Amino acid sequence: MSAASEKTRVLTGITTTGTPHLGNYVGAIKPAIAASQDPTVQSYYFLADLHALIKCQDPKRVQESRLEIAATWLALGLDTDNAIFYRQSDIPEIPELTWMLSCVCAKGLMNRAHAYKAAVAENEAAGNQDPDKGITMGLFGYPVLMAADILMFNAHKVPVGRDQIQHIEMARDIAGRFNHLYKGAYFTQPEAVVDDKVATLNGLDGRKMSKSYNNTIPLFVSEKKLQKLVRKIKTNSLEPGEPKDPDTCTLFQIYAAFATSEQTADLRREYAAGIGWGEAKNRVFDYLNEHLREPRERYQGLMEDPGHIERVLQKGADRARAEAAPFMDRLRVAAGLGRFV
Ligand code: TRP
Repeated sequence: MSAASEKTRVLTGITTTGTPHLGNYVGAIKPAIAASQDPTVQSYYFLADLHALIKCQDPKRVQESRLEIAATWLALGLDTDNAIFYRQSDIPEIPELTWMLSCVCAKGLMNRAHAYKAAVAENEAAGNQDPDKGITMGLFGYPVLMAADILMFNAHKVPVGRDQIQHIEMARDIAGRFNHLYKGAYFTQPEAVVDDKVATLNGLDGRKMSKSYNNTIPLFVSEKKLQKLVRKIKTNSLEPGEPKDPDTCTLFQIYAAFATSEQTADLRREYAAGIGWGEAKNRVFDYLNEHLREPRERYQGLMEDPGHIERVLQKGADRARAEAAPFMDRLRVAAGLGRFV
């Protein structure tokens, strides 16, 4: 066995809809970049742009989001000599594997997927005759594409949010079914990794920061815009001089996700001493702005040089395909689709 194949393979995908925000950074990007520096790990990070088509049929938006997300990861320091960083749509073996897996995956398993069930429930609640109204085969089969992403590289660990655990379980199920049917240990059983330590940030209105709530603070907005957004974070009506509770405060939580523990403890004391909201917001803005300045500059430089990003992603695709293509050949043979001679 080569050294590379002894490493733990960690793989995760980022659906390319929307613009990366502080919540994405704290919850996914930062831990992923840190994990990719572990020499015992080979990480695979990819832009899940085929998944993006399920939710977004606006080509401009899909294209823009792919570029923004790639630039964000690079600006924040992802080392692409180390991590294999690629676009899902550059790996034709992934849709091919999706089909093979679809042919061994029970339809009933997909009927139980949360995302599909939620869409059906919504139709029923709206009194629609057809419970499947507006539901595409893409949405229905979403977990099979995700299984192909994971099984293509025989990932051991898949860091995801809680909402994705079911999809990893489905990938395990599908892997087992394929191995059983075609009598071989083709696929490794992946494991979901959910990190309870990483913070889920709240957004401007105090609900979870999410593009679907329209309450995000994008990572690389201009200094002025960042200041405006921080000022918009919902607080309460306590006056300066009145003690404030940091533990129920979105502003404090955002600060704590970035600052050191000493700095966080300092602000905690100031809350107790009755710091005014205006001043607290200035403090948080200054801190964020200081920390985002350098990556923001790198991000802007990258966005102006899409050719560079393209080259980086092509290098990633070459590395990914160097594994995916020979593996797919094996899988074709397993299923009876090998060459005649
Ligand atoms: N479905 C994931 C999400 O919405 C993104 C994703 C696509 C993914 N393929 C994956 C995550 C494979 C982990 C592994 O967050």
